[in-house]
Amino acid sequence: PGRPRVFSGMQPTADSLHLGNYLGALTQWVALQDTHDAIYCVVDLHALTVAPDPAVLRERTRRTAAQYLAAGVDPARSVLFVQSHVAEHAELAWVLGCLTGYGEAARMTQFKDKSAKQGAEGTTVGLFTYPVLMAADILLYRTNVVPVGEDQRQHLELSRDLAQRMNSRYGPLVPVPEAHIVREVAKIYDLADPTSKMSKSNGSVNGIIELLDDPKVIAKRIRSAVTDTGTEVRFDPEAKPGVSNLLTIHSALSGTPVAELEDRFAGRGYGHLKVEVADVVVEALTPLREAVEGWLAQPEKLDDVLAEGAERARAIARGTLGDVYDAVGL
Ligand code: ADP
Ligand code: NA
Repeated sequence: PGRPRVFSGMQPTADSLHLGNYLGALTQWVALQDTHDAIYCVVDLHALTVAPDPAVLRERTRRTAAQYLAAGVDPARSVLFVQSHVAEHAELAWVLGCLTGYGEAARMTQFKDKSAKQGAEGTTVGLFTYPVLMAADILLYRTNVVPVGEDQRQHLELSRDLAQRMNSRYGPLVPVPEAHIVREVAKIYDLADPTSKMSKSNGSVNGIIELLDDPKVIAKRIRSAVTDTGTEVRFDPEAKPGVSNLLTIHSALSGTPVAELEDRFAGRGYGHLKVEVADVVVEALTPLREAVEGWLAQPEKLDDVLAEGAERARAIARGTLGDVYDAVGL
């Protein structure tokens, strides 16, 4: 009964989320609160796979939560919590790990890519079982839908396979989660290399707009965004990836349709477009940055929100894990 459940999370691997995280994920999470029973998590256990400094990890976990809140994740309507506060994630991950084939896990392309770069000795078992922990995150809350980007699609497939396998081996325990793909969600590209997506892991420093960047830095990066040698402001991701990216950013933040922007900038050249995009981005991110600062200035209030979220998450997680333990004989 009631609304479908959505679960999503991001890793606390940076001081600030970037514009791609905001437009591709956070704004969608916020909208889903109107139609779904939403659970949003800061996945700090996942972040441990990159061996962060302990104090830095702790700080980034809080900053990430503050950014969720500032963007409009509403703890009165959604469950907002930190993954490691709910021990059931790790416990269900163990059970699911025992249902996952070694070869199946070894076929995950993200693991193959990262482990190839790091070598066998530099690769941890945690990186290998990362998608199993992700499956536990999702199945623990009997999630119906998961908003996923392209790079997580294979991991969600594994979650679906594990749900089906567990249900068929032990009886119906969890729904098989669906990918939630919203076509209107913007994919944002690197400003300095507009053919690759804006990303902390692959992108250039100058190509990224962080939510907490200084307005001057934001304006400078947009002014120096790579475009092309033409002059016509036209949405054409193949021929004009840089200009198209700027139009996408403008449209997503201002709500102005791209076609209307094309008309407005007809015959005016890229310089004008960049100035206006910079204004639109700064205008949108300034209140967000201030809200983050507000949360970080009240650490007790933030901790209270996260403690209450963990309690609500734990209540659901305990139910599922109890059913799973009973079913498998623990
Ligand atoms: P990163 O690529 O910086 O490591 P993540 O992979 O942690 O970011 O992404 C977190 C969320 O933000 C995911 O839902 C992902 O789909 C979304 N996201 C990341 N980069 C972009 C982007 N450039 N455009 C749109 N959405 C993005
Ligand atoms: Na990534």
